[in-house]
Amino acid sequence: MKPILDIQDIYTYFYTESGVVEALDGVSFDVMPGEPVGIVGESGCGKTVTAHSTLRILPKNGKTIAGKIMYRGTNLLDLPDLQMRRIRGKEIAMIFQDPMTSLNPIFKIADQMTEVIALHRKCNKKEALEVAIETLEQVGISDADKRIVDYPHQFSGGMRQRILIARALALQPSLLIADEPTTALDVTIQAQVLEIIKEMQQKFGLAMMLITHNLGVVAEITKRVHIFYGGRVVESGPTVEIFTDPKHPYTRALFDSIPSLEKDKTRLETIPGNVPRLINPPKACRFHPRCKFATEVCSRVRPPDVWLGPQKRVVCHHFEELDLHVDETIMRKRVKVQEEA
Ligand SMILES: Nc1ncnc2c1ncn2[C@@H]1O[C@H](COP(=O)(O)OP(=O)(O)OP(=O)(O)O)[C@@H](O)[C@H]1O
Ligand SMILES: [Mg+2]
Repeated sequence: MKPILDIQDIYTYFYTESGVVEALDGVSFDVMPGEPVGIVGESGCGKTVTAHSTLRILPKNGKTIAGKIMYRGTNLLDLPDLQMRRIRGKEIAMIFQDPMTSLNPIFKIADQMTEVIALHRKCNKKEALEVAIETLEQVGISDADKRIVDYPHQFSGGMRQRILIARALALQPSLLIADEPTTALDVTIQAQVLEIIKEMQQKFGLAMMLITHNLGVVAEITKRVHIFYGGRVVESGPTVEIFTDPKHPYTRALFDSIPSLEKDKTRLETIPGNVPRLINPPKACRFHPRCKFATEVCSRVRPPDVWLGPQKRVVCHHFEELDLHVDETIMRKRVKVQEEA
């Protein structure tokens, strides 16, 4: 089987007054058809920029200057604007972090759904309205036929996010990019919305790129994970393996920073130092200034991608010498804590 999305060595830079921000510095990863994939990493490591580069919705000062973004065998970076517009929504849909800014407050939900549905599914307004109502019902909006003429402010945050999920799904995309889809929501609502996303992913066999900080969510929904650090992928692998047998010191540090209920863990382990600024980032391995295993070579030579299996990759000079194994029971407890947090 071929990947539906195959990102090959992309570099995305932002040109700012203080200098060039090397936001993505040779990012490669793929998503298989129907596969839910997690994109994980600290704030500022390039997750959103990757999503925006894929959909070509970067701000004016940003540009993907090298690499390929292959979607079903076509390089999206080469597509004329008109064709790219067809891909957005219909082929690749995105759910953004903040449900309020993605809905226009002055239009009824019906107006914000039916037009795009009619356009992308090539049907008339009446049929589009039926599709909209049906999808709203699928994501748990009751009395959807009546509520569809309401305005966004008449819905709660969780319901607005459901509406956006419905709007994305109504176009029958093949790939869904969900960028922190629940962080703007109340904790109690987060679980419900995640459940809907999981259900919809399974029901429609959607390929999904789920961007999140929350490792509990990753464990719950994804089958494979790509760990980002400083604008690069530092480790990839099946979710279970990444959780129990991380190979990269950064991945391990991420797990150690999950709060634990264990008695001996009264303090949270934090990763020393800060996420690098991506103007003049650290040379060679970008994690080396914060890594307790770093040696001279780490600041001199960029570590290569080492494939340990068809899906398992690690980008670290020292992974073979390290045993970063995480005890599975402790891991489960920690993930559960984060899920419930
Ligand atoms: N418009 C912009 N101009 C300059 N730099 C930018 C711009 N947008 C993003 N960046 C930089 O690109 C890097 C990656 O940002 P990105 O938004 O992808 O992070 P992220 O991983 O999504 O973080 P978060 O978890 O906080 O959403 C950051 O260093 C950020 O400062
Ligand atoms: Mg982001």
